[in-house]
Amino acid sequence: MSDAVTADDPRYKELFDVRTEALQGGYILEDDMNQHFHRLRSEAPVQKGYLRELLDIPEHHKKFATPRAGYTALSFEACNTAFRDNETFSSRLYEDMPGVQAGFGGKTILQMVGPEHRRYRATLQPMFLKPKAFSWWRERWIDDIVRNLIQSLKDQERADLNLQFCARMPVHTVTRGVGLEGEDALAFRTALQTMMGQGGPTPEAAMQASKTIDDLLGATVRRRRETPGDDVISGLIATELEQEDGSRRPLTDQEIMSNCRLIILAGGGTTWRQLGITLWALLSRPQQLEALRADRGLMEAAIDEAARWNPTDPYFSRLVTCDTVLDGVEVPAGVVLDICLGAANRDPARWDNADDYDLLRPFQSHLGFSIGPHQCLGMNGAKAEMVVSLNAFLDEFPNLRLDPDAPAPQLVGALEGRGMTAVPVRLR
Ligand code: HEM
Repeated sequence: MSDAVTADDPRYKELFDVRTEALQGGYILEDDMNQHFHRLRSEAPVQKGYLRELLDIPEHHKKFATPRAGYTALSFEACNTAFRDNETFSSRLYEDMPGVQAGFGGKTILQMVGPEHRRYRATLQPMFLKPKAFSWWRERWIDDIVRNLIQSLKDQERADLNLQFCARMPVHTVTRGVGLEGEDALAFRTALQTMMGQGGPTPEAAMQASKTIDDLLGATVRRRRETPGDDVISGLIATELEQEDGSRRPLTDQEIMSNCRLIILAGGGTTWRQLGITLWALLSRPQQLEALRADRGLMEAAIDEAARWNPTDPYFSRLVTCDTVLDGVEVPAGVVLDICLGAANRDPARWDNADDYDLLRPFQSHLGFSIGPHQCLGMNGAKAEMVVSLNAFLDEFPNLRLDPDAPAPQLVGALEGRGMTAVPVRLR
């Protein structure tokens, strides 16, 4: 395996710093946002105004090309309904986001709805089902990457797991899983972030970044068409898309490339931040960590509970396509609905002591990975990555604990992505 995973490369710090990431979007929220979410939800389950407006955050850049009024869903009932009913609350809104258009270089499953979404998602889904995540992904990529990273930490007394582990593991897993070389992971992520930069990149920067992405992905698709491998691109080449009339055809290079861009972007940053949050939840609650040590069968519960308690992406948006009533509130056609899943995940109507991180609580579905037709495609892969990582930490470092001499870790970020400033630990 390449040593790109463990290399001492300054780009990790540049690309995986939650404060820098937030400030690229123009603002950072240092508060625990859950207190604000509680206040808003207790006022009304659905409110007029974008989430940003309800929180008095100035508009730093135009997120959508078309000006529209905004509403925000805050209760579990409202958010759950909005995610599941993708015809009324449409993901086509992504087509109106210039950053998304530039970043993916073509239509992806993220912005499709109804039968079109089902047909395209079906080309990817088999490679992301739970058994595949915990066997194929795990054996081909995750185990190897985790082993190498743990090895690189073994001689250290202290570490920042957020930067030294959480940042590295997912970006390499997903880049290699798609079919690129490990060495390309950071170049690819740098280019994707340039394209997606809030407010948009300069035309020259966009052109250069787009070329980097297309060169890397295009070369891999061409290579795999000649010599099939065992990765996502090879899987997409081998599969056929069901068309509207029921006939089937192979995917085009463009279709493969835009969805692979989406997968690499969606799979790198999210798992980095969510694994950091999960580690922080456990390490700052030694009794919970001990419960997990004593019963590794609780591993998925620990991960799901962290995604409920503090989901890294606290909201997503949809376009409302017809007049409707959501959790008792009238919402007109043509507005944008911000679905604040962060607020939904702590709704006291659904969870007792919702603010507590408690891996022993009875499981109820949450919205940390969304729900309905667009539920995270990579959810099982992300869980497999986190299960392998947490098990490796517990196995290798029986005295793992937060470093009492380091500054206390903080959960900060923008509304679009929140994570840990650091996870400083003593390993011995
Ligand atoms: C802990 C880590 C992750 C979290 C919290 C997360 C969260 C989410 C959420 C909330 C959505 C829904 C977006 C929407 O409804 O508009 C989503 C969609 C998606 N995620 Fe993830 N994700 C994670 C990891 C991953 C990974 C590892 C991959 C790929 C390997 C991935 C690929 C995708 C894709 C392709 C979609 C779009 C699905 C569709 O539109 O049908 N995600 N993710």
